Amino acid sequence: MSRFAYVNGQYLSHHNAAVHIEDRGYQFGDGVYEVVLLIDGKMADCEGHLKRLQRSLDELSLSSPVSDAALRQIMNRLIRLNRLKTGIIYIQITRGVARRDHKFPQHSHPSLVMTVKHLSVNTGQQLAGKSAITVPDQRWERRDIKTIQLLPNCLAKQAAAEQGAYEAIMVMADGTVSEGSSSNVWILTGSGQLITRQANEAILNGITRRSIQRIAAERQLEIIERPFTVEEMMAAKEVFVTSATSMVTALTQIDDKQIHEGEVGLIATALKADYIECIQVGE
Ligand code: PDD
Repeated sequence: MSRFAYVNGQYLSHHNAAVHIEDRGYQFGDGVYEVVLLIDGKMADCEGHLKRLQRSLDELSLSSPVSDAALRQIMNRLIRLNRLKTGIIYIQITRGVARRDHKFPQHSHPSLVMTVKHLSVNTGQQLAGKSAITVPDQRWERRDIKTIQLLPNCLAKQAAAEQGAYEAIMVMADGTVSEGSSSNVWILTGSGQLITRQANEAILNGITRRSIQRIAAERQLEIIERPFTVEEMMAAKEVFVTSATSMVTALTQIDDKQIHEGEVGLIATALKADYIECIQVGE
């Protein structure tokens, strides 16, 4: 089956889809993006992702070339054209094509690109946990904006891959965990507190993170938003990450330390099951 991508008003074969070499996304990483999960034809947290996209655009004084309603239409058409049932929708908006000059061009039209990727998502119980490594967080100080400038994240994920690990957990200079290279990090303490870093400029305010906060609150879990150290994480009862692509994924090994004796914990398992149910019923 041929794949289709959306590029600035056109649905093109994925193979031939391209943007201009002077696009500021290509030249400067001057753009923002979103990743939306689709399970059995149901989008997860679409509203939240589109709101965050708007926020990222506003923070960079970028404007969307299309309305939210049009964005949703394009997403749906691309899902249909690609016969996507389960996978991800990738949306990218850049400042568009202009002669290379660092300052914003006076006249440029933002570029909108959308692609989809088929994924096999494990909606069942996670039987085996994943491993992670810790790496220094080398990013700029506006991690709350979902920009396409992901080089430090790519370096971190590559370091994890080279060590056979699933995720790289980024650690700030003060010894606290910021987030994963493409996920938010959570710990469950021995006394049953669920801790995740508060959403400020230090981390991306994950849309999955917010859904999991709501679900955990419904389960009467005590949620505390604060930074936590690597030592606290290593001593935690459970550690898991959340993101559009990993949903809720338990980490059972971090560097050379086993978490929860290498077993996937009950809380991560329950939160994942609830989250999938929410997606399936369209909440
Ligand atoms: N990344 N933190 C970072 C640095 C991320 O890149 C992501 C998601 C998250 C989780 O956000 P959300 O729950 O909204 O997906 C946190 C996406 C999946 C990516 O870059 O592919």
